[in-house]
Formats: sequence, C-alpha cells, structure tokens
Amino acid sequence: MSDDITVIAVDELNEEQATQELKRLAQEISAHDQRYYQNDAPTVSDAEYDDLRRRNLEIEARFPNLIREDSPSNKVGAAVASGFAKVQHAVPMLSLGNAFDDADVHEFFARIRRFLGLDEKEQIEVVAEPKIDGLSISLRYERGEFILAATRGDGQEGENVTANIATMGEVPKSVLVEMPEIVEVRGEVYLSHTAFHDINLQREKDDEPTFANPRNAAAGSLRQLDSTITAQRPLQIFAYAWGELSDAIAETQWDFLQALKLWGFPVNPHARICESAEEAIAYHQEISGMRTDLDYDIDGIVYKVNRLDWQQRLGFVSRAPRWAIAHKFPAEKAQTVLEEITIQVGRTGALTPVANLLPITVGGVVVSRATLHNADEIERKDIREGDTVVIQRAGDVIPQVVEVLTEKRPTESKPYEFPERCPECGSLAVREAGEAVIRCTGGLICPAQNLERLKHFVSRQAFDIDGLGGKHIDAFQAEGLIKSPGDIFRLHEKHELLRQREGWGDKSVDNLISSIEERRTIALERFIYALGIRQVGQATGRQLALHYGSLDEWMSAMKQATSERQNQPEETKKPELVGDAFNGLCDIDGIGISMADDIVQFIGEPQNVAIIEDLAASLNVEDAAQPDTSASEIAGKTVVFTGTLETISRAEAKATAEALGAKVTGSVSKTTDYVVVGADPGSKATKAKDLGVTVLSEEDWRALIAN
Ligand code: IVH
Repeated sequence: MSDDITVIAVDELNEEQATQELKRLAQEISAHDQRYYQNDAPTVSDAEYDDLRRRNLEIEARFPNLIREDSPSNKVGAAVASGFAKVQHAVPMLSLGNAFDDADVHEFFARIRRFLGLDEKEQIEVVAEPKIDGLSISLRYERGEFILAATRGDGQEGENVTANIATMGEVPKSVLVEMPEIVEVRGEVYLSHTAFHDINLQREKDDEPTFANPRNAAAGSLRQLDSTITAQRPLQIFAYAWGELSDAIAETQWDFLQALKLWGFPVNPHARICESAEEAIAYHQEISGMRTDLDYDIDGIVYKVNRLDWQQRLGFVSRAPRWAIAHKFPAEKAQTVLEEITIQVGRTGALTPVANLLPITVGGVVVSRATLHNADEIERKDIREGDTVVIQRAGDVIPQVVEVLTEKRPTESKPYEFPERCPECGSLAVREAGEAVIRCTGGLICPAQNLERLKHFVSRQAFDIDGLGGKHIDAFQAEGLIKSPGDIFRLHEKHELLRQREGWGDKSVDNLISSIEERRTIALERFIYALGIRQVGQATGRQLALHYGSLDEWMSAMKQATSERQNQPEETKKPELVGDAFNGLCDIDGIGISMADDIVQFIGEPQNVAIIEDLAASLNVEDAAQPDTSASEIAGKTVVFTGTLETISRAEAKATAEALGAKVTGSVSKTTDYVVVGADPGSKATKAKDLGVTVLSEEDWRALIAN
C-alpha cells in the first residue's frame, strides 16, 4: 500500500487515516474556495475540485463521528455557515392543496377533467401514496454523485444540510445505474415510531427534554449543526418526486417511482395506481385502516395525476400543483376542561377568543390552547369557561374546540360575554357588516395591533431579519426604540442606546445592525407581504409583484384603484362599474373583490401610505423578476378570453397565456391588446371592436402562441 493517504480508496481508509484526510481536504478545499471566490484565480479545474468535495463527503458518510466543525460540506462556496448556509432551489419546492372529504376528491378529478377538456369516457389515472408526516428534502445528484441536500425552507430557498443527510444509510452517495447528468430527488425524511421512542427514552435518562412527536424529533435531528448527533439518529427517507432534471426520465409518475427504486432510493411500498375517484377513495379507506400498524406517521394520502404530459399542462396555482392533492385523514380528538377564555388582538385588529385548556395530549402533542375563532362560534356552541370540551387537532393547524359536553357543565356556569372594548387599548370593538370578526378600532394607536404588525414585518417570510425576532420587537417597542417599520432601518442611529441595554455587547449590536443593513434590499413580493394587509399572504404578494413589476407601479395603481373605489356612488357599489385600476386588481389570479377591497382599504389609510413612503425612501425594493418569456410574442400583452373556446378549456388557455408572460383580464378596455373570441361571444367582442382592440379567433390565437 502506498504511504500517500490521498490516494487510498475511501473504503480502505482506517480511522486514523480518515481523520487526517478530512483535515487535509478541509484545508485544501477551503484554499481553493478562497482562490476561486475571493481572488478569482482558481488553480484546479471544476472537475478536480468536485472530486475533492466528493471524496470528503464519502469519507464523512463512512465516518460520521469524524465530521469536522469546519467541514466543507457545511459550506456553500466561501460563505462560512453560521447555522446553515442558504440554498436557492433550482425548481421551487411546492406544497399541496388539501381534500378533507370524498366530495373534495371528486371535485379534484372533475377539475382536472374540465381543465384538460377530457370527456367522461376518458380515465384519469392517479398514483396514490401515503403522505408521510416528516420533513421534505431535496437531494441533488450530478453525474450520479450525491452533492447537495437542502431543506424545503420557504419553498424557494432552503438550508444546506448535506453533511447531515450524508450520515443517512438510506441515501445513496453514488448511483451506479445510469441516470441523467443532473437529478434532484425529493422526498420525506422521517423517524420511525421505534426510533422515536428509543430517542425519548434516552433523553429522559439524560435529563433532557423529550420530543413531542416523531416529526419534531426528525426535525431536531436534521437541523443539528453537529453531524455526529444526526448520525446517531436513525433517520429514514421515502423518495416521491423530483426537482431539476437534465433529461426526461419517464412518461408517468409511476414509471418515475420505478426509476427511483432502480437508483436505490426507498419508495413507499404502498404506492398504487388508481383509475378513478372511487378507487382513490377506497385506497384512502384501506390505508386509513392500517395506519396504526405502520411504524411511521402519515397524515393522509397524496394523489398525483399519472401522465406527466398532463401534469405539465395542468401546471400550478400559486404554490400548489393542479395535478396533485393531499386527502387528509380526519383529525384526532380528546376531552379536557376549558379553564378560561382570553382575547388575542391580531395585526389587523381582529379580536380572537382563545380557549386556555387543562393541558392534554392529542396525537402525541401536548395541547393547552385552542382557537375559538370568533364571538359567533362561542355563541353557536354555547362555549363557557369551566366547560368540559372535545378538542381536535389535525396536522399543524391550531387545535379547535369541536363540542361542549353540556352534561358535565358546572351548575354555576354563565354564558360567555364577548368584550365590547379592545382589552389592550380600550378602543371600541366593532363588527363590520357581513363579517364574523369583531375588530379593535384603535388602528395603529392600539399597541397590540402595532406590535403584531411589526412582528409580521420582521417574520421569516417577510423581512426575515436575523437576530430581530418577536421578543426583540416586544422589548424595542416597549422601550420606544421602534414605533413603525421604518424605525428598524434607523436603529443604527440609536446604537449608543442599544449598547447600554442589559445583556447586549458591542458584538450583538453590530451583528444586529449589519443584518438589518442586509435587508435594505428586498424583493417586491416580500415587501408587499410584509405590510400585513388583510388577506394578502405570500402567494398574493407574489402575484401582485409579478403583475405590477415595481413598487412605483404598484403604488400608483393602488392609489388609483383606491380613489376609484372610494368615489364610487354607494348605490353602484358593483365591482363591474368601478374603474380600470380596481378592475385590473380584481382580475389578477387569486385576488377577487373581497381581497381587492382589503387592499384599497389599507391604501386608503393615510398612515399606511406614510409607512410605505417612509420605507421606500430608505430601502431598495427590487423589481419583480418576470418569468423568462423573452421568446414569447405575447409577453407583456393584456388578453381577454370570451365565448366558448372549443379546443382548450378557459382555465388552460388562461394558464398558458400567463406562462408566456401575458396578463389575462376579465374585462375589455382600451389597454387590452387581444380579445380571443370563441363560440357565442357576448358584449365583450362588440366592445373590443368599438375600442379598436385586435380580435382573434381561437385559431388565430393558437397560431400566435405557437410562434
Ligand atoms: S408530493 C409538488 N408526495 O407534503 C408536489 N408530498 O403538504 C410535491 N409529503 O411539502 C409533494 N408525503 O413535504 C408528496 N408522498 C408524498 C408526500 C408529500 C409527504 C409532504 C411534502 C410536501 C407536503 C405538502
């Protein structure tokens, strides 16, 4: 054998040699990183560099106990991981829509049929498989070698957990069967019940807090900065989907699963093809019946359209595919005593009653609070303090009170009286016409509302400022350091005050200020989401950003829409009679009138506009990156479809147009570029002619998009 350990095959290294090799590789890779990233002067080819990283990873997989703190697997490029390095997903990791009962499943099949324009005789095959209650993960392979593992994160950007995943025996480090050059395998990492109980037993012995359920234990194990801890936890994986692929692999979902097996990934053995909604529902019942016999947690069944060409056509709505759905299992229930009802004030002023419960375990999790939704709900169910109640918990949603056991009610009990004033600021609490929610009217003078808005502003999906969490916001607001979002970006002016705070050294102040500085540049979609407008979540934030492109465009359109809506005479409050800006807003996919009204109401408050302008003056809000439609003839054009289309459903026509970069709206105006008319067009075709807008037949349209 050669003395030179750098040429010894990984499976022939002994522990001492491995230790030395890992040390050498860490130094060598770091030096290459420095030359490549900092000096722009690499001294090795990319392939040689990849070989070093791969060797490092293979050694770590064989000797997880030897993984170094400065392991190259914990770093992306030259950025040293503080916590975990961030990884941008090449293809976003999506979530799934839910079906809660049989009717939802039938509707899922019917929707697909409508969208694809299939007739009743055509079968829609789906692959049905258990929905694993674990953590989703994306595993990247290049030329058959495992090179990167990332968590889902917010779906766009996750965390680099390569070193930890490399400790898992079930994850192939090299795929020996032929596979495309780039393959991202996606799946769910989980812990078996057996492993979960063993871990908790050990933790009890060691006087450490136990995990609430297998999912939390798996998450805790995966997010270990020290991979040697992960290596001691027998994490497992089921692979079920893909991200980036350099070549097509299969024509059906089913064949893709077979390829995964061939490559050596565990695929759930219960996956099965179902040929109709009825078969899918029967499968759901069958698996539900054996749920308790499985050694891992599942929380439903996922159905995925089998034909991949259909998946492609069906595409996505906001963050979930149209071609898949999660059919959830009914929630787990338990009985306990409701000790007290308290009121929480949300960021939009909504007063939410909360049930404070005698703590109880439901489905492996200790529950001590449940939402009571609103005053109507309390009245309808006659929920009272002191009652014995049935609560239920489904997945990650907040537990709910489903029933009161009136026979167990104490004799002195009285109906609950909802407060007439905000418990936080004393302002009148009112219910708007047609709304179930009672709201505090204090607006930003209500400290609770303001506080919640600030917390939302810095939250993970919004500005995501490292080191500025809810607790800091609480304290900074109480001390008057932060009153409005703009104050966050002026915090550096008060650094003297910060340095005097108890427990805060120069270093923590400097870190905070620099992480705030990092967020001075922010994507438009995050900015919009961060404002905390009622009903405007991340998906809507993104839709708005894509539609309007820049902060200036968005603000001027919103101001216009607000004045159109406010100046509309009361008797004509019909949306179709409002101006173009408001109509344009309602027409955006997933928005509609109620959400549009919430947006204009927000912009109608001068203090909100002042907050936005204050932020705009000191931030760089980035324009939304438009989808790559450079080759498309219709990019940036506004299109209206009217009449019955014959070769394609309306929904698919709209989705295709949007994918090519067009805006699809419902009403014709002078800014419309094309009106596509099907059979029996109505007044829109006439209006288009009157306004001189180009009218296309369905055939013309197909020719246009074929270009
Ligand atoms: S498919 C684009 N299949 O459920 C669709 N997801 O609620 C990608 N999950 O984020 C997901 N088991 O973490 C799929 N057999 C399965 C699954 C599964 C669990 C998780 C996954 C996803 C979440 C959505």
